[in-house]
Amino acid sequence: MKTILTGIRANSVLTLGNYLGALLPMVRLANEHSKDSQVNIFVPDLHSIISDVDGDLQENIIRSLKYYLAAGLEINENVHIYRQSHVPAHSELCWILNCVATMGETSRMIQYKEKSKGQESCNVGIFDYPILMAADILLYSAEFIPLGEDQFQHIELTRNLAMRFNNKYGEIFTVPASTAEQVKFMGMENGLRIRDLLNPEKKMSKSTAAENSKIMLDDTPEKAAKKIMSATTDSFDKIKFDMWTQPGISNLLQIEALVTDAPLQDVISTWAGETHYGDLKKKVAEDVSVMLEEFQNNLSKISDEEVYKLLESGEKYANEVANAKLFEVQKAFNLR
Ligand code: TYM
Repeated sequence: MKTILTGIRANSVLTLGNYLGALLPMVRLANEHSKDSQVNIFVPDLHSIISDVDGDLQENIIRSLKYYLAAGLEINENVHIYRQSHVPAHSELCWILNCVATMGETSRMIQYKEKSKGQESCNVGIFDYPILMAADILLYSAEFIPLGEDQFQHIELTRNLAMRFNNKYGEIFTVPASTAEQVKFMGMENGLRIRDLLNPEKKMSKSTAAENSKIMLDDTPEKAAKKIMSATTDSFDKIKFDMWTQPGISNLLQIEALVTDAPLQDVISTWAGETHYGDLKKKVAEDVSVMLEEFQNNLSKISDEEVYKLLESGEKYANEVANAKLFEVQKAFNLR
């Protein structure tokens, strides 16, 4: 059975970028493949503490897991939910992989460069975070890891570490699929990067200060609609999908396709030749509002108890699988 795995940090309420870029693709793939694949959904809470956490981490973790259920995740015996810090093998494999990875390749990670930029002194966790991420993936022999485009470099790093390790110690790790194969598996042409609404050259991020730049999953549908209506566009007066020259308009077309579950090409064709940006914004605002209303309604019906129950069986499964793989690695290093 192949394994599909993903994680989203629970540092705050999530954004529409997290939802459309990672959470929804994971839920769709899980529902499609969970009859004949293992589906692992976890909260990388050790990754959360590399930076400030908004609010209460425990509450954020439970809410993040509820998001998957609210987005329609169907549970069966192959779907596993767990918290990274409740499976100690992640931290231990991270240490061992630290001794496989080089300073050079880790220093090249764009996320590290971005997250450490402007900081007088940056914590070592920010530097080491892709290695812990590689451990998260390799412990479970995951082949497919639905992620937004900003994380692709970490998949390539994980593949390199797994191949280097296997060359030296034998075929212990499953090498995850290449990013090109990952994108294909998600049924897309390119990785997803939902843009900042005010500054569409950048990705939508929870850490951007300007409120109107991002839609949060707890925004009221009305507030979200207003943010879409005030999104930055351009002065071409032509609705066309081109992320380089018209990133604002292209972002709206991309959001529209994802929230209505329509192929991007169909949305692009529907709007081709149109010139009124206001009409497109109105339609996207309406559809995002409808999506948020339904999502928030689903969310309000999920209890903490439901999540804790899933965590109990999920963490039992995760510890069994992870410890078995860790033991193989420990033996390879003559630690056992
Ligand atoms: P994190 O928590 O920063 O982001 C979670 C997921 O959301 C996606 N994402 C976006 N996708 C499209 N457009 C955006 N604007 C956007 N913003 C965020 C991210 O690409 C990601 O998929 N290191 C990871 C968490 C992690 C992980 C793992 C994931 C730790 N271990 C193992 C998979 C497997 C992170 O910090 O993601």
